[in-house]
Amino acid sequence: MNDISMTERNVTRINKLKEDKWIGYTQATLILEKLEDLMFHPKVHRMPNMVILGETNNGKTSVIKRFLKRHPIINDSFEDATQVPVVSIEMPPEANQDSIYISILRELYVPFQRNARKDEKFNQIKSIVERLNIRMLMIDEFHTLLDNNVLRQTQVLNTIKYLGNSLQIPIVAAGTKEAHRALLSDSQLSNRFKPYELSRWKLDIEFRKLLKSFEKLIDLDKPSNLDQRDLAIEIMNMSEGWIGEIAEIIKSAAINAIKDGTEQITLDGLKKLHWITPTRRRQL
Ligand SMILES: Nc1ncnc2c1ncn2[C@@H]1O[C@H](COP(=O)(O)OP(=O)(O)OP(=O)(O)O)[C@@H](O)[C@H]1O
Ligand SMILES: [Mg+2]
Repeated sequence: MNDISMTERNVTRINKLKEDKWIGYTQATLILEKLEDLMFHPKVHRMPNMVILGETNNGKTSVIKRFLKRHPIINDSFEDATQVPVVSIEMPPEANQDSIYISILRELYVPFQRNARKDEKFNQIKSIVERLNIRMLMIDEFHTLLDNNVLRQTQVLNTIKYLGNSLQIPIVAAGTKEAHRALLSDSQLSNRFKPYELSRWKLDIEFRKLLKSFEKLIDLDKPSNLDQRDLAIEIMNMSEGWIGEIAEIIKSAAINAIKDGTEQITLDGLKKLHWITPTRRRQL
């Protein structure tokens, strides 16, 4: 292999490393299965809902994105029908009934009159949910609801209740534990939203399995055996158990290993990253 093709190969590998990856670890797979069940739940008066809880940078949005990828928009040109199985929004910054409706309509590319009455916007949503056969509404960043005053919070929780009852589709919230706190403040919602947690990683067999899965994705010429004790401990200490950090550390170390030709992630390579832990970063 000549130098130029080596460089091209390296560039390709490095770019590939920078892409989003998906690892179906146990907790995430369980949540995906539960989401699947929920989506095909028959329409009942009190639809069950779910809340995905986890600290920041720990895989909540990735699970949502994965689920959306599994259930993409279907354009049936023969039947001239479009199906949108899932609609996913983020809690709007200044959350209230109107901004929630607007977020849904925007996400679905439905033209609407900004100053139309709320009930008109709701009717638009209702008819589009039926027409596109929407089966689930997901709301990420749910905890940001708590940034609003109590009046707004109550209004939003009532809107969510109303959407669930009248559209008869399950609602999935995702956010930090604060999201749960927001839901718990309403007694009806608190027992309709079943919590599932993406907990922080610990030094256990699951973590070692995760490291093995990452290693399969990094495409270095030599094995690193990321799951071996010393490397696992070092990655755990550096990441403090957040999957976003774990992914970033492995990616950065792999990119360096490609660039310097070592072609494997070693303890030395990890040390050379001079990684600042999330706790330390917050103190800076
Ligand atoms: N299943 C997974 N497989 C591989 N990498 C993952 C997975 N889940 C998360 N990650 C990595 O962790 C990063 C952070 O994940 P994500 O954005 O889903 O976290 P989050 O819990 O939504 O964070 P926040 O609360 O800040 O929104 C992702 O960008 C990705 O690099
Ligand atoms: Mg997120």
